[in-house]
Amino acid sequence: MNRIPVWIDTDTGVDDATALLVATKLEELEIVGVSAVAGNTSLENAFRNARDVLSLVGRKDIRVYPGAEKPLLIDLFTAENVHGSNGLGGAEIPLSDAPVETEKAWDALYEKAKEYKGELVVCPVGPLTNIANAIIKHPDIVDYIKVLNIMGGAAIGGNVTPCAEFNIYTDPQAAETVMRSGIPVNMFGLDVTIKAYLDDDDIAEISSYGNPVSDLFRDSNHLLYQAQERLYRSGLCEHDSCPILYTAHPEWFEGYECGIYVETQGTITFGKTVTDLWTDYKFDDRHCRFFLDLDRDRFAERIKEAYRSF
Ligand code: BDR
Ligand code: CA
Repeated sequence: MNRIPVWIDTDTGVDDATALLVATKLEELEIVGVSAVAGNTSLENAFRNARDVLSLVGRKDIRVYPGAEKPLLIDLFTAENVHGSNGLGGAEIPLSDAPVETEKAWDALYEKAKEYKGELVVCPVGPLTNIANAIIKHPDIVDYIKVLNIMGGAAIGGNVTPCAEFNIYTDPQAAETVMRSGIPVNMFGLDVTIKAYLDDDDIAEISSYGNPVSDLFRDSNHLLYQAQERLYRSGLCEHDSCPILYTAHPEWFEGYECGIYVETQGTITFGKTVTDLWTDYKFDDRHCRFFLDLDRDRFAERIKEAYRSF
């Protein structure tokens, strides 16, 4: 099988950890690099968590690069209320002893994108600071990235403000840089990711598998569970697994061509992803797809299968 080369950029919190773990179990994908960015938690935590999670599943061979410590222009806004002070909801796993990469995320990503000659799929599941830095520092990277499968944004609603989602709100200038770059974008915003949930039975099942990886799941997700119970429904929305599972199984997801831009000036609309999905006035540039639905049962089943197999 020709595997799809994938780069994952993560602010390694708890749903990021699930996405990374699931990605290592998808035979359709070849993870060619991972980068960390500040968002849910500090860069230091996000970098350590990505390394430790990959080490936990015996994938110390996947290189993890450190990226931005803060957004392009604004102060860092973290989500410790959801991901805990260490980014993993307080759960502790062994420290990785893999060699520590010091090359910056945007430089490493640029080199890898060139190596794969336009075939690299990049999955950013945190604020878009690293990707924006790559575009700013290496403008020709736009010719080398096949597509960005992004977790971020919302056509309707928000989870930080009534109209802004965390990854975009945290660095809207970076998001707008990415949306204006011309790289094709598949955007998995809250519209679809709140439908991408594990229900209480799924959670109990994964928690009962009794391997170190399912133990991490059991011990790390309580704050996210509480937050989502207040916002949406009981269960766990696995936001960050959406672009990962889409990359392997696009047929499970339903998306629509559109233009997307990001509000960087507004007061109550700061960080909103504005789409032209529901208007007859279309943006000139419509190189994006915004996803609205998925086959939840297959999505949840594949996540359970991954956790069962560690
Ligand atoms: C996004 O925000 C973060 O807290 C999650 O990891 C996910 O990437 C959901 O809004
Ligand atoms: Ca994330």
